[in-house]
Amino acid sequence: MSESKTVVIGVCGGIAVYKALDVISRLKKQNVNVHVIMTKSATEFVTPLSFQSLSQNMVVTDMFAEPKAWEIQHISLAKKADVMAIIPATANIIGKVANGIADDMLSTTIMATHAKVIFAPAMNTNMYNNPIVQSNISKLKEFGYDFICPASGRLACGDVGDGKLQETDIIAEQILSALNSNKDLQGKKVLVTAGPTISKIDPVRYITNGSSGKTGYAIAKEARDRGAKVTLISGPTNLKKPVGIEVINIETNEEMHESVMKHFDDSDIVVKSAAVADYKIKCYSNEKIKKNDGALNLEFIRDNDILKELGSLKKNQILVGFAAESHNLIENAKGKLDKKNLDYIVANNITESGAGFRCDTNKVSIIKRDKTVIPLEVMTKKKVAEKLFDIINEDIK
Ligand code: CTP
Repeated sequence: MSESKTVVIGVCGGIAVYKALDVISRLKKQNVNVHVIMTKSATEFVTPLSFQSLSQNMVVTDMFAEPKAWEIQHISLAKKADVMAIIPATANIIGKVANGIADDMLSTTIMATHAKVIFAPAMNTNMYNNPIVQSNISKLKEFGYDFICPASGRLACGDVGDGKLQETDIIAEQILSALNSNKDLQGKKVLVTAGPTISKIDPVRYITNGSSGKTGYAIAKEARDRGAKVTLISGPTNLKKPVGIEVINIETNEEMHESVMKHFDDSDIVVKSAAVADYKIKCYSNEKIKKNDGALNLEFIRDNDILKELGSLKKNQILVGFAAESHNLIENAKGKLDKKNLDYIVANNITESGAGFRCDTNKVSIIKRDKTVIPLEVMTKKKVAEKLFDIINEDIK
């Protein structure tokens, strides 16, 4: 995060309190300013000192503690916050805010802020499913408060069901997403493909490539953070399903083709970052191929060039392709831009250091339809995604 934003974390009393520490640590790693307000019962589980050490700010607990700075404090934190997140959010705080009760530092700050407030509930399953709690949640949602759905699993009390605090990386991701104030893709539908596809040989074997999907996922998240409605069509990856994005999992070129075609007409921007297999096996074996003494010869035939097809079908969509090359980078990429009728192509030399499939960084050049080449330094895949949408949005204007 380039300019430092402020998140106020409200910590309520529950066994999941310690997990709020991990969320704070994740936010700090992204240069976010964190202030913490703890309810009195939260301090029974973890001391304010832990939160103070991690957030590097004084933790606010009691409105009436000396020095009596509360008159301004709940207002100043409410004003300072770009986002407020309540972790864990108990039935109590949800009930209080839903019913306009402001009787401690946390509830008064929530009432006084204009910032986006996100509740991450955690409580016993029966409490969570209690119609009173559910009705309070619905009421708050109608007022524009956001909720991070709790996970299902074994709870501290031994019960199994909904009510477990959502995973901390998901909570942090949702907070970071809410912090992005640049909503220049609001109202746009963005379709992204990511990861590899596989070509099946027999029921147990297939060939694929080394794509990790990191670039495509970073692009999908960036589009989401800028306000777009995002559909991500993903080949097999080890990456977590991003929050707030419709993810369609596919394996083969044919499945990706079918899914992309279904969504293409309805999309404004299509970014095809997937490493799609160009060939498929000519004769798929329904039975496992047994070994023999000789060599194994497999014949492959051409499969769909999905991006080329999109280029020929394109109406008003902005079409972005990728070119992973090992030589003649710009020349080859420009050739693909023309051949596939693209608006932009992101070209990268997979042999350069800091670039390529599994890294967290990439070194790319973005080439426009008019063949302007914009060379970029080595940067994180997230930064590449930011640059890509900066360029597209500048051109749309
Ligand atoms: N692409 C696609 N369908 C394919 C192959 C590629 O949609 N069967 C898309 C990729 O998602 C990427 C771009 O086309 O955006 C890459 O094009 P290209 O470089 O032609 O694919 P390669 O298979 O890498 O081409 P080559 O092997 O000839 O370099």
